[in-house]
Amino acid sequence: MYKEPAFSRFPILKPNDKIILRELDSKNDALGYYNLMCDPAVHAYIQETEVPTSVEDAREKVKFWYNLFYKKISILWCIEKEGLLVGTIGFNYCDTMSGRAEIVYDLISSEWGKGIASTAMKAVLDFSFSSLNIVQIEALIAVNNVRSEKLLRKFNFILYKTHKAHRVIRGEYVDTKTYVLYKNRHSSELTVL
Ligand SMILES: CC(C)(COP(=O)(O)OP(=O)(O)OC[C@H]1O[C@@H](n2cnc3c(N)ncnc32)[C@H](O)[C@@H]1OP(=O)(O)O)[C@@H](O)C(=O)NCCC(=O)NCCS
Repeated sequence: MYKEPAFSRFPILKPNDKIILRELDSKNDALGYYNLMCDPAVHAYIQETEVPTSVEDAREKVKFWYNLFYKKISILWCIEKEGLLVGTIGFNYCDTMSGRAEIVYDLISSEWGKGIASTAMKAVLDFSFSSLNIVQIEALIAVNNVRSEKLLRKFNFILYKTHKAHRVIRGEYVDTKTYVLYKNRHSSELTVL
């Protein structure tokens, strides 16, 4: 059943004392969001249309994501570590009527390999399966995105489909994979930190 309260106030998640998942703020997060999406190591795995062309453009993109929550379409959290935006995680879409969502996440490369993405992923999955009416979460990754694939497999996502020449990244068509996690395969007991 659709749980309206989940979309009435932005859900702040605090998985540990270093990481906070909070709402994006177009005034204060534009530069951090620009730096994240323009980080060459991140840029290598995301579509051209998602990369801001300037800090002003980043501000518009942040506003777009912010508004999606209040339109009850989606949730994108800012991953904040020690007061700084280090990444984002949330949903491209979050259809609480049908119980389906597509997860997206990006972490600045200086913070890779520290378990932050895993910590954020666990918090979002626990929240989504317990407080939203979500039963199935998809993720779409470029075939060469080894770190992202490892993260998904760690959380019991299973490979659903591969797609040929499905996304344009840095001007090239790349193949992609869709992974899926069903609610009954998610364990909130999984320890990440
Ligand atoms: C995909 C992405 C978010 C993964 O980030 P990450 O830092 O590799 O992921 P984690 O934070 O979970 O780190 C995992 C690794 O950190 C290391 N690590 C170090 N300390 C750790 C800890 N305390 N807990 C967990 N992992 C830890 C481990 O080596 C772990 O690997 P393992 O799962 O084999 O144990 C990141 O690479 C990224 O933003 N990539 C570019 C953008 C992108 O691809 N976005 C997704 C598009 S679909």
